[in-house]
Amino acid sequence: MTSPSFGDPWTADILTLFPDMFPGTMGHSLAGRALKDGLWALNVYNIRDFSKDKHNTVDNPPLGGGHGMVMRPDVTAAALDHALSSREQVVRPPLIYPSPRGRFLDQAYVKELSQTSGVVILCGRYEGIDQRVIDRYQLTEVSIGDYILSGGEQAAMVILDSVIRLLPGVMGKQIGHQQESFEAGLLEHDHYTQPRHWQDMNVPEVLSSGHHQQIEAWRRQNAEMRTRLQRPDLWDRYTEQHSGQNALKKRVKSIDKERDNN
Ligand code: ADE
Repeated sequence: MTSPSFGDPWTADILTLFPDMFPGTMGHSLAGRALKDGLWALNVYNIRDFSKDKHNTVDNPPLGGGHGMVMRPDVTAAALDHALSSREQVVRPPLIYPSPRGRFLDQAYVKELSQTSGVVILCGRYEGIDQRVIDRYQLTEVSIGDYILSGGEQAAMVILDSVIRLLPGVMGKQIGHQQESFEAGLLEHDHYTQPRHWQDMNVPEVLSSGHHQQIEAWRRQNAEMRTRLQRPDLWDRYTEQHSGQNALKKRVKSIDKERDNN
C-alpha cells in the first residue's frame, strides 16, 4: 500500500444518485471538524450528470427479466472515469462498491484504507449496478453486514467514518485503548464514571484504588470476559492465536534444550 503523497489530504470521491445525502453525518462532530480543517477531502459526484439521453436515464430493467432496475454500465463508467481523472494523486485509489455480497468491513481493512491516498466509493441503488462495471474496474465489493440496505450511501458513510477517525490528527491521543484492544482481538472493557454510587449500583472498587497495575489487570480480565460472553466467535479466534503462540514458544524451548544437550 502506498502512503498519500505529502500535502494531499486523504480524499473520498463519492458517486451517487443522491448527492444531497453527503456529507450528512460526516459533516458533524469529529469528521466534520476534520473536513473543515482539511485533514480529509470529499468530492461528491451525481451519477445522473453522466447520462447522455434527454431523460437523464441511469437505469434499465434487468436483461433476462425480473423485478427492479439495474444501473446502466455506460453511465456508471462515465461517472467513474470522470472521478478518477479528476484526482490529482497518481496512484489509483481503492475503488469500492458497497454491496451485501462484498468482503466484510473489519478494523484491519479500515486500517488498510486509512493508509491509502483515499477511496472512490460507487453507491448503487435499485437492484445494483451492471456486473461489467464491477469486472472492468475491478471494484472491491464491501459489505457492512448481513442485511440489505436500500442503497450504498449509508454503507459509504460507515466506511468513511471508520477510516477518517484513524487519519493523522483527527483524534489526537484519544485513539488508543479501544483501538488497541480491538486490534488485539478483544472487545473493550466496561467503563464507569461519577457518581460512584448510582441507584443501587456501585463501581468496581479496584477502579478507585489508584493502583494502576491492578486496574490494568482488572480491565484485561473484564475485556476477556466480555469477549467470551458477547462475541464467542472473536474469543475462539483470540484463544486460537494465543494457544498458537504458546505452542510456538514451547517448540522453540524444546529446540533450544535439544541444542544445549548436544
Ligand atoms: N448495500 C445494500 N446493502 C448493503 C450492505 N449490507 N453492505 C454494504 N452495502 C450495501
